[in-house]
Amino acid sequence: MARCLGSEPLALIEGSTIPGETRSLLRVTDFSRSEIEELFDVATRLKKERANGVSHRLLEGKTLGMIFRKSSTRTRISFEVGMFQLGGMAVFLQDKNLQMKRGESVADTAKVFSRYLDAILLRTYDHSEVEELAKETSIPVINALTDKYHPCQILADLFTIKEKKGSLDGVKVVYIGDGNNVANSWLLGAALMGVNLTVITPEGYGADPEIVAEAKLMASKTGAVIETGTDPALGVQGAHVLYTDTWVSMGMDAEADIRKKAFAVYQLDEALIKLAEPDVMVMHCLPAHRGEEISAGAMDGPNSVVWDEAENRLHIQKAILLKLLGGK
Ligand code: CP
Ligand code: NVA
Repeated sequence: MARCLGSEPLALIEGSTIPGETRSLLRVTDFSRSEIEELFDVATRLKKERANGVSHRLLEGKTLGMIFRKSSTRTRISFEVGMFQLGGMAVFLQDKNLQMKRGESVADTAKVFSRYLDAILLRTYDHSEVEELAKETSIPVINALTDKYHPCQILADLFTIKEKKGSLDGVKVVYIGDGNNVANSWLLGAALMGVNLTVITPEGYGADPEIVAEAKLMASKTGAVIETGTDPALGVQGAHVLYTDTWVSMGMDAEADIRKKAFAVYQLDEALIKLAEPDVMVMHCLPAHRGEEISAGAMDGPNSVVWDEAENRLHIQKAILLKLLGGK
């Protein structure tokens, strides 16, 4: 069985790695704070080396199976290219072409995968599916997005903020929009790394209350200030980062019209940017919908760092792959 760190706040912050054990990344807190800081250092080095034409064979002979039950642009490409740049190979598996789609269980699939592959990545709907995969296999499992969490995204986002600001200390991030998988992961990631976070959503669309409570408990140990609210103008005061995501996540298309009405005054736009700190960074996990969760002016304006943020998926995920697959 692949192991995750669990959810005891102190273990998460300090880490408790057993040498030689199989590790997985199902939630951002499956790494400790110091391990995430190490990931940032490795990603910084890999990014510089890539720019200087240094190539690597650190994962030579290693394979990553990538199962996608939902669409993807960034996650698929960055993991596939990342494995290639480290000397390994990624195998893209669309669920419609797997026997899983015809009823083969996750458990049986997991057992077979561990005989061929060195790690598995899964993008799916129900978070319990990545948990089951990790339970049933002896190789690392990477959550490439579920309805509940998107850990690789938040690690790339935190890395981007650290890279741009030099430090995460004292940074205030304001997430505005839907209390979805990205918001849930932001809550855990910010609480763990000591980043102040305010999550602003319409009434009835807040983040998972259990995750908010878990984040607040962790924040009481790390010193982060975690807040939730419904008033965008109030929430953005003092923001160093303004962050948003789609109002209609994958699998929610039937609710699109009702959601667009409920979220209409929650757009990240130039008026909100003016209320934040003068050098506020605008971030979005992408894909973006200009005119919905973000205005074209905010998305393409001088405060936007969305393309650097997207690029950093590649660098941080290479660091994650090295950590989980044992490369140096
Ligand atoms: N941000 C993100 O995960 O993008 P994709 O859905 O394109 O992978
Ligand atoms: N919340 C979005 C993120 C896409 C990367 C979704 O789940 O569709």
